[in-house]
Amino acid sequence: MTIVRAAFFIIVIVFLGFSDVRGAELVPITTVPDNPANPVTPEKVELGKKLFFDRRLSGDGTMSCATCHNPEKGYTDGMAISLSYPTTKNWRNAPTLINVAFSRPLFWDGRARGLEEQALFPIMSAFEMNQNLDFLEEELKAVPEYVEAFRVVFGGEITRERIAMAIAAFERTIVSRNSPLDRYLMGDRDALNPIQKKGLDIFVGKGRCVLCHNGPNLTDNRFYNLGVPDNPVLKNDPRVMATMKFTAKISGYTAYNLLTEDPGRFLVTKDPRDWKAFRTPTLRDLALTGPYMHNGVFKDIEEVIDFFDRGGGDSPYKTELLKPLGLSREEKEALKAFLLDALQGETVPVSPPDLP
Ligand code: HEC
Ligand code: HEC
Repeated sequence: MTIVRAAFFIIVIVFLGFSDVRGAELVPITTVPDNPANPVTPEKVELGKKLFFDRRLSGDGTMSCATCHNPEKGYTDGMAISLSYPTTKNWRNAPTLINVAFSRPLFWDGRARGLEEQALFPIMSAFEMNQNLDFLEEELKAVPEYVEAFRVVFGGEITRERIAMAIAAFERTIVSRNSPLDRYLMGDRDALNPIQKKGLDIFVGKGRCVLCHNGPNLTDNRFYNLGVPDNPVLKNDPRVMATMKFTAKISGYTAYNLLTEDPGRFLVTKDPRDWKAFRTPTLRDLALTGPYMHNGVFKDIEEVIDFFDRGGGDSPYKTELLKPLGLSREEKEALKAFLLDALQGETVPVSPPDLP
């Protein structure tokens, strides 16, 4: 009788302990989300790729999208805090564009609804490409190859909306396919080696990672405050602080001048529960995309794993989903092997196009 009762309690405890992990699943990548209002065609992708690499998109002609989303660095710039327009400073980490077609809304705080809307933000941004869109339209119209390409792709002239549409179509082709995890999920039991399999078990079990990192792109596209510490440059470099306050000001936050830390999604919703919440990022091709987090404060995967093992950081409104994990050294090693090796796909190689 006591044994039966004890067994019953153990089952209940196990059930409660993992109940919030149930329903969260890993899914292999098969199809890529499209935008019916902006279908991907080969000619549009070719045009979008040219624009993505074209420095005409920046005010002083020094920067293209690829400057900060460099295909050779996993579509990031490899910096903790991203590059910026000359004499200004950026304030956040440049996220990878690998599998960005799966993400919505965009940016660490979700302030852009989709790729077509997003593309014009960095072009106009004072601390990124600092370009004037009316001027850019005229600049591109002065290039016969672009005039012809827009006519073929869109049946009309060059507009800012079409510039954004072409870039978005190109971005939807940046997909990480056929990683060991995908092959494993599609039935190839040998696609993961024993240590990677152990890492996967921790990812979906004891590590609770799958609570937020799930679905085909290993993200639920939701926002959480994990208590990630601010990058010290925010307080130490007045130009970084100026960029933050400027961003808060144009978001319509009237008390922007009192800010001393990155408020995250709060700037978009103005809801205190979103204070310092950031969007769950993809973990695909993770080995290529460090440093990590919205402000690059963790330089490598070991630091990230240690952070989650501690149950995250310290912040009011920190999510209740993080708890100390008590991972052993071997378990951390297995998790690391899974994250760095099993999530590495065959990204289509992209070389800079010939520009008109
Ligand atoms: C000066 C560096 C820089 C340049 C140039 C730049 N970006 Fe970014 N990009 C960033 C940073 C930093 C972020 C994150 C900003 C944030 O979340 O607040 C970002 C975010 C993004 C995102 C959102 C990704 C996600 O997962 O939410 C997309 C898409 C993107 N950039 C595309 C582009 C395109 C297209 C161009 C060219 C038109 C471009 N970027 C130019 C630095 C740059
Ligand atoms: C409560 C949801 C949640 C859980 C659980 C969670 N993560 Fe995350 N993860 C996030 C969010 C949100 C971020 C971005 C936080 C930020 O930048 O401030 C993130 C960032 C990361 C990053 C950095 C990626 C990058 O490109 O910068 C890695 C790596 C990561 N998580 C791995 C893990 C692992 C491994 C686990 C389990 C041990 C885990 N996460 C558990 C939500 C979660």
